Parts: sequence; C-alpha cells; structure tokens
Amino acid sequence: MPGRPAEFLLVDRLSKDDMFAWFFNFEISMSSTIFAKDGTAQGVAKQRLIETIADSNKRVINDPYAAPFVIGAGFIKLTGHKFMVWLGQKMAPGLHEHLIARTRFLDELIVKSAADGVEQYVILGAGYDSRAHRLDLPVSLKIFEVDQDEIQERKRLKLPKGLPNSEQVTYVTVDFTHQSLSQQLLAAGFDETKSTIFTLEGVSQYITKEALSATLTELKTLNRKSNSTLFLSYVDEAFDKDPEVCFGKGYPNAVKRAELIKSLSAKVGEPWVSFYSEAEIGDLLSQNGFAIQKNVTLEDLNPLYFGPVGRTLPEKQMLKLEHLLIASN
Ligand SMILES: C[S@@+](CC[C@H](N)C(=O)[O-])C[C@H]1O[C@@H](n2cnc3c(N)ncnc32)[C@H](O)[C@@H]1O
Repeated sequence: MPGRPAEFLLVDRLSKDDMFAWFFNFEISMSSTIFAKDGTAQGVAKQRLIETIADSNKRVINDPYAAPFVIGAGFIKLTGHKFMVWLGQKMAPGLHEHLIARTRFLDELIVKSAADGVEQYVILGAGYDSRAHRLDLPVSLKIFEVDQDEIQERKRLKLPKGLPNSEQVTYVTVDFTHQSLSQQLLAAGFDETKSTIFTLEGVSQYITKEALSATLTELKTLNRKSNSTLFLSYVDEAFDKDPEVCFGKGYPNAVKRAELIKSLSAKVGEPWVSFYSEAEIGDLLSQNGFAIQKNVTLEDLNPLYFGPVGRTLPEKQMLKLEHLLIASN
C-alpha cells in the first residue's frame, strides 16, 4: 500500500500468533527465566504505557510509571499510540480497550472512595499497579500492596525513588494459594476498625476457585469491625464454554480468538484456571458478607470512556470477557 509506514508493513509479514504473543506479553515468561511469574503483570503495564503515550486529548488513562516494567518500552514509544492500538486491533480487537477501561474504572473508584473518607486501600495482586503514586490521594490514606515476593522485589527495584505518597505504602507478601492474607495484613499494620477498600484486579482467573473463596473468607474476618468495599474482576464462564456470547456481533473469528488467549496464557505457565457465572460469584460474595452493587463490562464503559475522546468501539470490536464488579459488606 503506497505511503504505508514500514512498521505496519513489517507486521503484515509476521505470523499473527507471534505478534499476538508480543503485544499482549505472552512471550515474556517463555523466553526468560528472569521474568518468570510476572509476564501478566508486565502485560497490563504494557497496555497502560501504550495508552499513556496517546495525545492527552485522546487518552483514557495516564500511567507515567509503567515504562520501567515494560520490555520494549523504547520501541513502543518510538512507534507511538496510533500504531500500537492498530496492532492491538489486529491481534484481539477490544482487548487493549478492555484493560484500559478496567484501569480507568478503578482509578475513578479509588479517587471517589478516598474523597468519601475511606481510610485504608488494599491492592490484592498489585503487580505493577502504580495507583498509590499516580492518583491524587489524601496523605491520611494507608495503602497496602499485596503480591508474591518476587514481583514486589522487582517492583521496588524498578520504581523511581521519592514518588508521591511513598510513605503511605506498605508492601505485604502473600501467596493466596498457601498464605494467610489476614495474618500478613494484620502483622503489617492493617487496622480492622478502619473503613477499607480492597481491590482484586485481573487476578481471579489465575487462581483456583478455592484460593479465591479462601481469600474472600479472609476478607470477611478482616471486615468484622468495619465497613468495606470490594472491587473484583472475573472472567465470564461463557468465555470458556460458549465464547461467542462474549464478543460483539461481527467480531472476527471470535471462537478462535478466545482459544488463542487461553492457550497462550497456559503455554507460558500463567493459565486462566477459573471462570465464573454472575450467580456463582454472587453466591461466593454473599457467603462472605458482600452484596454486589455494580457489575459492568467494556460494553457499558465504551460510551463513557472512549466516546468522549472520539474512540467509541464499534460492535464488531466489542469484547466482554471480563466483568468489573463492586460489592460492599
Ligand atoms: C495480570 S496481573 C495484574 C496486576 C495488577 N492487578 C494490574 O492489573 O496491573 C496478576 C497479578 O496477580 C498476582 N498473583 C497471581 N497469583 C497470585 C497468588 N497466588 N498470590 C498472590 N498474587 C498472585 C501476580 O503476581 C500478578 O501481579
């Protein structure tokens, strides 16, 4: 095509699976043991970086601290937002937008909760989330970042020193599959009498249903003396059983695309192991004292976040694989 920039032509020549793997970070854990375990945390940081380099009147979120965690950050900055979003559309239409909408939804929830007077913020499976530093939060808010040891070590090493709110953040090491969240949090200074917001963003698909249930039971213990809000994202069981339901009408190769997402994450040792129906997640939450207040997908957020910046996704690019849910006790 005359006038087509070189990077667009290069992509046309590469296999779709290779590009998909690079774009959504499925290759990282495969190719390097140094980065084992954090391929998915890097993957989300990569999408935040891509969005951040958009013109300020076009972007939906801004994460100035994502770049140190992204392999190929220089290439991404060089090629630019337009190219990277085009690439994302080629690989899995709507996936970049879904991840970015999830970030924005949570950014708004945290800022509002803090303004409403919440006293503690616990980020479960924090990965390379930088909300503690990039959002305008009151100095009185205590923040606990919970994740596995290796991820936190790498995060502390790479985050620039002297970031805003650094003194408010306590790192708490927990592996949800075999460590007690409540014990670790209480030992780190969590106060059971204070109002708290807990967030579990992009994690439930990677842990067993038993581990999620045990984590929610731990929250019930921690919540006995106070009010709390919980944000939880979960992948719709239809994505596993009847994927077409999760895609907009006219989405290209929907079933194949769902299989590709699942098989690539499995291939790199971070498989999606848990999918939920709304009824199942509702039961799990109510057993642990939570009632659902809101449950949305990209379809609901598309007009709110992408419409105002002239980037509304058409139906044929709609991907409703993950639900964003707010519950309270
Ligand atoms: C896809 S990343 C999401 C990171 C972050 N919440 C975000 O959205 O940017 C998944 C995170 O869950 C964490 N995680 C996965 N299994 C875990 C476990 N068993 N215990 C603690 N953290 C876990 C990973 O270390 C990783 O940081």
